[in-house]
Amino acid sequence: MKAKIRLKNYQFNTIKISGSKNSSLPIIAASILSDEPVIINNIPNISDVIILIAILKKMGYNIHFKNNTLIVNPTNIKQSFFNYKDIKKLRGSYYIMGALIGKYNYSNFSFLYPGGCKLGNRPINYHLDAFKKMGLNVNVTKRNITIKGYKSSCIHTLETPSVGTTINILLSCSKTENTTIINNAAIEPEVIDLCNFLRSMGTIIKIENRTISITGKKYLKGCNYIVMEDRIEAGTFLILGALHNGIKITNINYESVKEITTLLSDIGYTITYEENSITLTKEKCIKPFYIELKPHPGIPTDIGPLLCVLASQIDGRSIIKETVYHERNSHVKQLRKMNINISNINNEFIICGKSTIVNSKVKSFDLRCSAALLLASSLNVHFSTIYDIEKLFRGYEDIKQKLNSLGIEFII
Ligand code: EPU
Repeated sequence: MKAKIRLKNYQFNTIKISGSKNSSLPIIAASILSDEPVIINNIPNISDVIILIAILKKMGYNIHFKNNTLIVNPTNIKQSFFNYKDIKKLRGSYYIMGALIGKYNYSNFSFLYPGGCKLGNRPINYHLDAFKKMGLNVNVTKRNITIKGYKSSCIHTLETPSVGTTINILLSCSKTENTTIINNAAIEPEVIDLCNFLRSMGTIIKIENRTISITGKKYLKGCNYIVMEDRIEAGTFLILGALHNGIKITNINYESVKEITTLLSDIGYTITYEENSITLTKEKCIKPFYIELKPHPGIPTDIGPLLCVLASQIDGRSIIKETVYHERNSHVKQLRKMNINISNINNEFIICGKSTIVNSKVKSFDLRCSAALLLASSLNVHFSTIYDIEKLFRGYEDIKQKLNSLGIEFII
């Protein structure tokens, strides 16, 4: 699928930020742990969510999704070989494995190897090592993962604070009454959101620095939960406003975007906070910057490709160093096609501004690459064409309408 995007007539407007993709996926998976009905609000209507729900329905779960609200009725399903093609369409599908392990005393199922954005080699060895450490028998072939056995609580010490591994351990042990410890855990706001959801079902979770201790409950009660806002969507719109004539975003807690707004205000933009909203005002003198993308509380890696576009519109040389992924660089070649002066030396993206963006035909390789191409396209009054635009819909709800309301034309 391709989209044509151009600047029509940018106008300052207010954008309501949707619920978080990276919170919704584990929370949806976690809902199957419940022993009573669960209601989850503020779930974004994006393709990753729709696919995850479709997988759970095929597995036999009783789930309804309408108007950003998900209702899950607890069901016991038969563990078997879950080999639906959809599993390969997103990485977050592997949270179902953690939830299945958590749900049943004895695990005995097979699952297709998950897919997701191609950000270089993305192994799942930390997850599988954690399952093994719990005492489970894990057998991996090229296509499938088979998990068998009884689990027990233990102390996990992660090699890096992996978001997905922390989440899968939380899911696996949230009904286990003995305490599980995760050292060097990820503490991204989305991990904390999942912890809050599990707490509202009854699991006891304590977090101190990077150590999480989980004491599960055999019976998890139902709850009515609101998923946090999408801080990467918020960052995307703040950067769009920074590239144009400012923006106001609502439905946002400033704490969740603090790292991004601090950077934007450090380089010269004016940021004002009100309850639940943030306004960015364009300023004349913006400075180039040097930053490192790091696990929370650092500047998130997911915003890196978007900051490359921002840097291209600032006089001088900016450097963005990626430290989380080894090969998250698919945006570089495409942004060059649009006349952005960007190079990549050992995961340091060096951008020299200012560039005049030329309208081009470019290809999106992953979700944040497509968002970066979208931002760059919004800087030219002539249409650019982005191929494989469906990758954008994995993580941005109502993106066409939101862009149109700002005077950016987006035609599918
Ligand atoms: N890693 C391994 N082995 C593993 C797991 C991770 O080597 O078993 C490596 C990764 O390759 C990466 C690093 O460890 O180099 C950190 O990966 P992490 O596990 O923290 O990332 P993730 O759980 O796979 C989630 C988000 C990503 C986001 C990262 C980092 C979801 C579904 N995905 O991925 O989101 O970039 O955390 O914050 O929550 C996006 O939204 O565009 C996106 C890619």
